[in-house]
Amino acid sequence: MERDKALQLVKAQLTERRYTHTIGVMKTAVQLAKKYHEDEKKAELAAIFHDYAKFRPADEMKQIIVDQQLDERLLAFHSELWHAPVGAYLVEKEAGIRDSDVLGAIRFHTSGRAGMSKLEKIIYLADYIEPGRSFPGVEEARRLAAKNLDEAVLYAAGHTIQFLAGKQQAIFPETFSLYNDLIFKKEGKSI
Ligand SMILES: [Fe+2]
Ligand SMILES: [Fe+2]
Repeated sequence: MERDKALQLVKAQLTERRYTHTIGVMKTAVQLAKKYHEDEKKAELAAIFHDYAKFRPADEMKQIIVDQQLDERLLAFHSELWHAPVGAYLVEKEAGIRDSDVLGAIRFHTSGRAGMSKLEKIIYLADYIEPGRSFPGVEEARRLAAKNLDEAVLYAAGHTIQFLAGKQQAIFPETFSLYNDLIFKKEGKSI
């Protein structure tokens, strides 16, 4: 799908603020794809659509998770996590995107998972560090992103876990899986 067409479809789903965020993720994802030798077109498309389902009502997302037999563990967790897997489903159904790499990057952009593909990591990280983000630690994440993709993703996952634990919020197991996966990789262990 052409970029302008994709942007037009997404704009209709988002607030102005979320659309601006999406443009930031798109630019960052393309830069990261260039740097880490990933398909730039796939990165661009996944970034454009990553928050497609962000403003769907929770009831609708819940129904899709049940009906489409998505990961039902999600239902016990904050609904903030739902727009990613539901988004992957809706982007295929409503926008006709069938590229499984692109859909995977949308599906895992919030929780992460063990064994993420390079494209998945790029979207996860671009969402975390796009220019509109400002939180303590984002500069360090950007610095790492310029050096090493896994280090930057590990930093983002670790910070997300700390942030959620600090608020005494439940943490989705796949986020721990992502974190452990990269720690073991760094330590030269395999699981
Ligand atoms: Fe998101
Ligand atoms: Fe996002």
